Amino acid sequence: MGRIYAPLRRLLFLLPAEFVHRFSVGVLRCFFRALRRTPRIGEAPRLPRGIGLAAGFVKHPRDLAVAAGLGFDFVEAGTLTRYPQGGNPQPRLFRLPLDRAILNRMGFNNPGIHAADASLRRRPGIVTGINIGKGKRTPAVALEAELREAVALLTPAADFFVVNLSSPNTPGLRALLEPALLDGVLVRLRDARAAAARFWQRPVPPLLLKLHPDLEPAAWAAMLAWLPGAAVDGVVFGNTTVSRSALRTPAVRVAEIGAGGVSGEPLWAGLDERLRALRAVLPAGRHLIAAGGIDRPERVRTAIAAGADAVEIYTALIYEGPSVIGRLRRALARP
Ligand SMILES: Cc1cc2nc3c(=O)[nH]c(=O)nc-3n(C[C@H](O)[C@H](O)[C@H](O)COP(=O)(O)O)c2cc1C
Repeated sequence: MGRIYAPLRRLLFLLPAEFVHRFSVGVLRCFFRALRRTPRIGEAPRLPRGIGLAAGFVKHPRDLAVAAGLGFDFVEAGTLTRYPQGGNPQPRLFRLPLDRAILNRMGFNNPGIHAADASLRRRPGIVTGINIGKGKRTPAVALEAELREAVALLTPAADFFVVNLSSPNTPGLRALLEPALLDGVLVRLRDARAAAARFWQRPVPPLLLKLHPDLEPAAWAAMLAWLPGAAVDGVVFGNTTVSRSALRTPAVRVAEIGAGGVSGEPLWAGLDERLRALRAVLPAGRHLIAAGGIDRPERVRTAIAAGADAVEIYTALIYEGPSVIGRLRRALARP
């Protein structure tokens, strides 16, 4: 942890987690405002490499300059939904310091794809992924229409897309992460991206699917069998877990906090095994991004050795402060 961040963290951890998030992002947005620029129409999408900021930190693309200013190599903005939504009632964001973890049930609070589009027209030069999902009130049958509208609208601005059906905080969302259901949807999303890219005269931005670590063995095996032929350009592994089994935080406290997904240290065990399994089935050229408890250089090296092309962090930024980004990046420079 950085020398300045250690005492600052003691202070910040005395305040409610969501307040601190909003406050810091607001201050940093003003600070890094000058980094915004107007991208050229038709700019070629760039693949995410190095150390990225995982989805959920920058919910609104107007805050992308924060990720650029902090020194990330790339960022995923979102999850964005078709319509703006406020997310779950507060409190919905909790620190579990004994576990170096966060528990959240934010529920996709976001400005919606149209407000996002307006902000994306003036954004910093950082490689930007657009993470898209399903609105809380959207019925499952409308998933495809919603995702197609998102990719059609945002193809001119995205370096890559991530389809997120793996968050635990939108009821029924994870049930849609189902090969039989997704096959046709993903093909049509590819067509929609291709049509939009033709219109904007730029190469088609790749689309990655975000998975979670709670798939049962049979569902995981089915996923691995399906992925090689699926119309996706890669995978992000993974999202938060609903499991509470690895936690040191007293069970009464965890029960009192209630539902949500856990991120940070508890996600690390087994991540490399999942990455190796994914790399073994993904055809050459498909992109693999690792996320889950990555907070030190050895873990970056382990994830890369297991087949990841890039890594993302969220929880480490809260526990270690921004200096962790440089430390992790140096692990890439000296393997
Ligand atoms: C407060 C919070 C909000 C999140 N929101 C989203 C989200 O909207 N969409 C998404 O795909 N992942 C979301 N995530 C998951 C992260 O992108 C990441 O996959 C996960 O936290 C594991 O990485 P970490 O252990 O480095 O935090 C969120 C995580 C946290 C802690």
